[in-house]
Amino acid sequence: MLEVQNLYKVFTGSEVLNGIGFKVEKGEVVAIIGQSGSGKTTLLRCISFLEKADSGRIIFDEYENDITKVSKKEIKNLRMRMGFVFQGFNLFSNMTVFENVMEGLVTARKMNKDVAREKTMKVLDKVGMSSYADRYPGELSGGQQQRVAIARAIAPDPEVILFDEPTSALDPELTGEVLEVMKKLAKEGTTMVVVTHEMGFAREVASRVVFMDKGVVVEEGTAKEVIDNPKEERTRQFLKKAGSKFEL
Ligand SMILES: Nc1ncnc2c1ncn2[C@@H]1O[C@H](COP(=O)(O)OP(=O)(O)OP(=O)(O)O)[C@@H](O)[C@H]1O
Ligand SMILES: [Mg+2]
Repeated sequence: MLEVQNLYKVFTGSEVLNGIGFKVEKGEVVAIIGQSGSGKTTLLRCISFLEKADSGRIIFDEYENDITKVSKKEIKNLRMRMGFVFQGFNLFSNMTVFENVMEGLVTARKMNKDVAREKTMKVLDKVGMSSYADRYPGELSGGQQQRVAIARAIAPDPEVILFDEPTSALDPELTGEVLEVMKKLAKEGTTMVVVTHEMGFAREVASRVVFMDKGVVVEEGTAKEVIDNPKEERTRQFLKKAGSKFEL
């Protein structure tokens, strides 16, 4: 459904993406794992045009193009089909929870206000935040803020949602509630790409796990294959370190 091929990205002398190919099919939950600096965030940022790739191709269903030749209008269209949830919650602090979710529906998506209101209540309910609709982000815990950010991302019904370490800024006791919401979305068949250090989540929820190192995919497969029986030495080394840090 959404694919990049042969993606390259250099940041002032350091090659961050080295011809990486990455693909997510409809209904899949792909977990991307890999050590700090391996290029995971850069990959998501290039796919979502927050960062300009140096070369490569992008394919989104019927759309295919050189990723450096996508016009501004096409970028806008492609981005409308994606949802984003990043590490920081990026909610507007001067808007209520309700307004944070509804804003994009009315402005970017030009949705009728009544329809947008209804949709907003529905997604807040889905993430268990409807009783906080009138609160401001500053009055919420990190986990609650991230659930609102997820509600905002799913509200326009994007075809795929990209998550970049959605729980890594949270205290351990708050990660569970966010992962639960993501599990629920996964169960409903939402197409998701999740950069994560949560091996438990990857093992339980991901239909495919992709291990990245130095800007390429080193190994991919089911969680059983990649996490429990890694073939590549680099994957084994990574998991060994991750295991001591994150309690496999
Ligand atoms: N805007 C930037 N300018 C210069 N270098 C950058 C920029 N963004 C990322 N890099 C470099 O690119 C490399 C890959 O970074 P990236 O953030 O993609 O890694 P990551 O796999 O997401 O790591 P982490 O697990 O720590 O989030 C790093 O060496 C980083 O320093
Ligand atoms: Mg990152």
